[in-house]
Amino acid sequence: MTVVAVFGGRSEIGLEIARRLAQGATVVLASRPGGERPDVSGAQRVMHVDFDADEVAAHVNAVDAIEAEVGAIDIAVLTFGVLGDQALAERDPGEVVRILHTDFVAQASLLTVLADRMRARGAGTLVAFSSVAGQRVRRANYVYGSAKAGLDGFASGLADALHGSGVDLIIARPGFVIGRMTAGMSPAPFSSTPDQVADAVVKRIRGGGAVELWIPWQLRAMFAVAAVVPRALWRRMPR
Ligand SMILES: NC(=O)c1ccc[n+]([C@@H]2O[C@H](COP(=O)([O-])OP(=O)(O)OC[C@H]3O[C@@H](n4cnc5c(N)ncnc54)[C@H](OP(=O)(O)O)[C@@H]3O)[C@@H](O)[C@H]2O)c1
Repeated sequence: MTVVAVFGGRSEIGLEIARRLAQGATVVLASRPGGERPDVSGAQRVMHVDFDADEVAAHVNAVDAIEAEVGAIDIAVLTFGVLGDQALAERDPGEVVRILHTDFVAQASLLTVLADRMRARGAGTLVAFSSVAGQRVRRANYVYGSAKAGLDGFASGLADALHGSGVDLIIARPGFVIGRMTAGMSPAPFSSTPDQVADAVVKRIRGGGAVELWIPWQLRAMFAVAAVVPRALWRRMPR
């Protein structure tokens, strides 16, 4: 039976992906303790596990515990993340470190744990959530953006390291996604919804394709242009 594990198991995007992959599968939702424990219809089994991504020293044990209970993870989706408070981070290094730790360090740590096991088995799919925010970092959200830039670079190198191993690593690069993380913000051009992001990711998991998955696809061209926009203009870009 296919084992799908979502790290950040209450994430809107993560749950939509889980719902699309659930039919006949074991779905593991790994989430911070204390919150809601959503059901995933169609799954043969849904397992909820407590998981705080910030506790990087516990990542090996967390994956061990999951695999001891349900078997090898076939598809791992890493959707935990924080937007953080940019204004606070511009004054408080603690907020900078908190954002970088969750959105870059913890992601890199867990990707390493999962990739190492999947490489040894010669099979598996990893989905890392980058963002267009990391493609050319903007003044308006440079802390979150730089964490995503770091993660994107890490995942890109890891994907090349995994080439030929049987492990498929997908780097999802959504633009603005209308949902909980962006509540109260006005949607940027080429916004999407968690449903649309999940559709694109699941299509790519099933059908194969490039490592980088822009959602929607038009953002690839937009960010090729963004790379050459003069800094004097770029620094005025809104969030
Ligand atoms: N929304 C966007 O516009 C957008 C755009 C591009 C990329 N992305 C990326 O896509 C991914 C999914 O985002 P989303 O839109 O689904 O956001 P979301 O609904 O806010 O989900 C993020 C999840 O991360 C979890 N989380 C935060 N810190 C954690 C930690 N230390 N340990 C475990 N879980 C933790 C949260 O858990 P709790 O439920 O416990 O709070 C939350 O459920 C994120 O990596 C995000 O950066 C989002």
